[in-house]
Amino acid sequence: MWEDLKLKADELGERRIVDLFKTPMRAQHFSVTACKMRFDYSKTLLDTEVTWQLLHLADAARVSSKAKAMFAGDPINETEGRAVLHTALRNTSGVPVELNGKDIMPEITETRTRMEAFAEDVRAGEITDVINIGIGGSDLGPAMAVRALAPYHDGPRCHFVSNVDGADIADTLKLCDPQSTLVIVASKTFTTIETMTNAATAKAWMKGNGGNPGLQFAAVSSSLEKTREFGIHPSRVFSFGDYVGGRYSVWGPIGLSLMLAIGPERFRQFLAGARSMDNHFREAPLAENMPVLLALVGIWHAQILGYETRAVLPYDDRLARLPAYLQQLEMESNGKRVAMDGAVVEVPTGPIVWGEPGTNGQHAFYQLIHQGSRIVPCEFLVAARGHEEDLQHHHDLLLANCFAQSEALMVGRKFKEAKAKISDYFNGVELQRQAAHRVFPGNRPSTTLIYEQLDPETLGKIIALYEHRVFVEGVILGINSFDQWGVELGKELATALGPMVSGKASAEEKDSSTQGLIDFALRHRRADA
Ligand code: F6P
Repeated sequence: MWEDLKLKADELGERRIVDLFKTPMRAQHFSVTACKMRFDYSKTLLDTEVTWQLLHLADAARVSSKAKAMFAGDPINETEGRAVLHTALRNTSGVPVELNGKDIMPEITETRTRMEAFAEDVRAGEITDVINIGIGGSDLGPAMAVRALAPYHDGPRCHFVSNVDGADIADTLKLCDPQSTLVIVASKTFTTIETMTNAATAKAWMKGNGGNPGLQFAAVSSSLEKTREFGIHPSRVFSFGDYVGGRYSVWGPIGLSLMLAIGPERFRQFLAGARSMDNHFREAPLAENMPVLLALVGIWHAQILGYETRAVLPYDDRLARLPAYLQQLEMESNGKRVAMDGAVVEVPTGPIVWGEPGTNGQHAFYQLIHQGSRIVPCEFLVAARGHEEDLQHHHDLLLANCFAQSEALMVGRKFKEAKAKISDYFNGVELQRQAAHRVFPGNRPSTTLIYEQLDPETLGKIIALYEHRVFVEGVILGINSFDQWGVELGKELATALGPMVSGKASAEEKDSSTQGLIDFALRHRRADA
């Protein structure tokens, strides 16, 4: 099947996306509407035959039955022997979710009820600022969502500290009052060195400045023992099971900072949005299934056509952290080189994901997207409606720019047109030379996801859409999207390097590059050295 698709790609030759629009109703046939959102993938080189081949690939990989297994709590994270049940965190249907014969919904609901009571309490009290200390999945989800839902904030200000670089915590603490700040230490394992270092620094800051860490610290973790050792009372600890991976955890206690910012009611709307995408993913046939189609477009671009990166371009400034969030979701999930059975995967796996909000990116890296020698499939996201009703003209410009980019990428500008544009200013050889610089090859693929407005429900839908897209791509590639062994080696080596960079141990066993870097760092450790 891969071979058929590759043959098809080889046959594309000079085919142009724009010509595919000569087929009537192309946009209708290559768009899907679900959960009040429209995903348009017509500005790609996909035609009906390729789409069917891709659907066949998904079918042969047993995407539907594997999705069923995920929702049913089978241990599909095989390398860690775990179920994958982040979807249970947003299961508000009352339907039980069984894991090893036990319904896990009562524990999930009980934790959510405790979170809600805690959030109401904090929101009604004297706390002015909340600092979420966490990293990776314990940071990116709530940080992205808190920013995305700024118009719905009516709780304390939320700050996020993730980096072990002291600059991160130092700059944040400067903004907060130690007596009216709540610190949430968010770490599934409660062992992550960055988080534990920042948590200790925050605790010392609070203690030394009249605050009360005993009352002003809360924790989100799976390890009650470790949170107790750190001194956090169990009544302020919110935990979740090992069936929820870090990068899939925003729906539960890791979302506590979001709940504090927008309130429990809106947090529930966020969950309901995700839930509606879950239902769509479970029920819609593959050919009408938005996450499946998003995944198949991804497979077509990355694995069949060999495009190495994909740009996520939200024309929605409040989604500024979405690309970073998706980098973890997609690259930590599908950046693997071996299949579930340990054999090396024969096609390239997860693509490099990057991006920035539009229109900012237009004035930075779009040059390469339009005229560079690499093709970068672009994924645009935009709301039909902004929140700033009195600034409608801004939103109109935003929409116009978003749609203009996908059109420009597709249509391009031919040499003849470029020449005509500047023929009043240049002639002869100079006209030829100048026109060459103004040619846009076009035929560059993009997709657009358009939704009504970025409210809590819609954000939930968008995130769940991408989660399921990652799942489908992982199933088709035959890899385990739910482990992350690739982050371990660096952690081990950092632990060994710690004493060397502080001058307490010799670095002589290290390679000469590492030795040279350590030597430079040690010599410049102090400004007066
Ligand atoms: O190092 C990678 C990772 O394990 C991520 O998968 C995870 O989201 C992050 O670290 C943080 O882990 P924890 O929540 O246990 O501190």
